[in-house]
Amino acid sequence: MAEKKETKSNAATSKSEDNSGIGVVDALRIIAGLLLINCIASYFVTGDSITWNYRPWWIRPKVLAARLRSPVILADGDLFHYDGRNESLPIYLALNGTIYDVTAGRRIYAPGGPYNKFAGRDATRAYITGCFKEDSIADYRGAEWTFVPTDVPHFMDKFDEDLSETKRDYRYEMVGQALEEVDKTIAHWAKVFRGETGKDYFEVGYVQRNPGLMAMLPIRPLCAAAEKKRPKPKFDKTAKYRRAERAEQARRQQLEYAKLTNPALSEEAERAAAAGNEGHDEI
Ligand code: HEM
Ligand SMILES: *[C@@H]1O[C@H](CO)[C@@H](O)[C@H](O)[C@H]1NC(C)=O
Ligand SMILES: *[C@@H]1O[C@H](CO)[C@@H](O)[C@H](O)[C@H]1NC(C)=O
Repeated sequence: MAEKKETKSNAATSKSEDNSGIGVVDALRIIAGLLLINCIASYFVTGDSITWNYRPWWIRPKVLAARLRSPVILADGDLFHYDGRNESLPIYLALNGTIYDVTAGRRIYAPGGPYNKFAGRDATRAYITGCFKEDSIADYRGAEWTFVPTDVPHFMDKFDEDLSETKRDYRYEMVGQALEEVDKTIAHWAKVFRGETGKDYFEVGYVQRNPGLMAMLPIRPLCAAAEKKRPKPKFDKTAKYRRAERAEQARRQQLEYAKLTNPALSEEAERAAAAGNEGHDEI
């Protein structure tokens, strides 16, 4: 049985050795045919993509071309030339210091378009606060207050020492979450401008600036519109949650202690803890 198999595979090998050109070409034909069918199927299903909407940078000609060129390095002042007014230039915008080509969105970014304020400049702060007019600047320090509930006092209005411990913890928790929200917002728009959400935009370079210079300027207060749409107070909810968390922790510790001191009691203690948990859910 095994011998027979061996001779068969030997025969196959020698056959493909004899006229290997045809074997390989046939295989390539089959693969190419399958790929073609796959592409056609994708085109019919998605409507416009032959790769099932999978669009990594290395199959995008514009991105490949941009990567082959040296990066575009512009100062903030030079970026203004690329705001869409001069139609023989591409439209650039910058986000947190990275320059993107958004010429494919000329309708949106050219003069008269709804987001012309973003073209030809780094308006990172406005992407966070939504104040397109007054916040079309790169410096987004302090913009996290857009996402901080209104019952959190500003560091300038109330020092840590002026606050109770719970209020202090609450402030740090809320500001921490707001800073995460800022990073997420910037990351989201960066994804859009890299073309990862389907737009034909791509990264081309970076803004040349002195970060130390920006850090020396005073932190800008939140624009009025962003101040107005800050989240509702959350302290009561948060404090309740903290209290429940502490009670839960105490229950767990009691249970552990009961198990350690008297194993026979552990079942009883577990039942008691479960009962306690039910009560806890109502908080
Ligand atoms: C913080 C607030 C906001 C920011 C940072 C923002 C930013 C943007 C950006 C950058 C685009 C262009 C995306 C692209 O190039 O494809 C866009 C598109 C759009 N935004 Fe906003 N937006 C905000 C709020 C709003 C609000 C409140 C509305 C609704 C009233 C809105 C309606 C639209 C519409 C309709 C488009 C599509 C424009 C088009 O394709 O012609 N946006 N937004
Ligand atoms: C537009 O840009 C081109 C290419 O850089 C330049 O030669 C031309 O002078 C610009 N036109 C205006 C009106 O600035
Ligand atoms: C924005 O740029 C600064 C300076 O390069 C960097 O430290 C920071 O992490 C960037 N922020 C985000 C959200 O990418």
